[in-house]
Amino acid sequence: MQEILVLHGPNLNLLGLREPEVYGTLTLAEINQQLENAGKELGVKLHTQQSNHEGELIDALHDACKWAVGVIINPGAYTHTSIALRDAISAINLPVVEVHISNVYAREEFRHISIIAPVCVGKIVGFGWRSYLLALHALVDILESKQ
Ligand code: DQA
Repeated sequence: MQEILVLHGPNLNLLGLREPEVYGTLTLAEINQQLENAGKELGVKLHTQQSNHEGELIDALHDACKWAVGVIINPGAYTHTSIALRDAISAINLPVVEVHISNVYAREEFRHISIIAPVCVGKIVGFGWRSYLLALHALVDILESKQ
């Protein structure tokens, strides 16, 4: 079975508690469960991981080369700042979909810039936790069209 890495960046461990009016009330564990269920229906296995540390996110991307066919990533605030994360995404040669829970374009200007967008296959923004679900469907579609 094909395996996909779902990578959550800094502060996303606080989902459910963190600014629920912006990020919703589902916890990260609940979102991961929804994704794993959807993955089963789509015939793919998901590995979910969260880190508050840039280097750990980079290590997870490097490791994914050994086993994953694609990656869904919400890099949190590193989206707007991390050249190192962008370099890791270009280095791994896997399709990567960028995800944001909130509509970053309706928020502060510094959130309008994504350093990683140019090296991702696409990006899903603003659909709450369902952004991840839409990203999963898009990624599976892309992978199927390559077969
Ligand atoms: C976020 C948007 C980022 O700007 C913010 O720093 C986050 C979450 C989102 O999912 O909406 O931590 O990536």
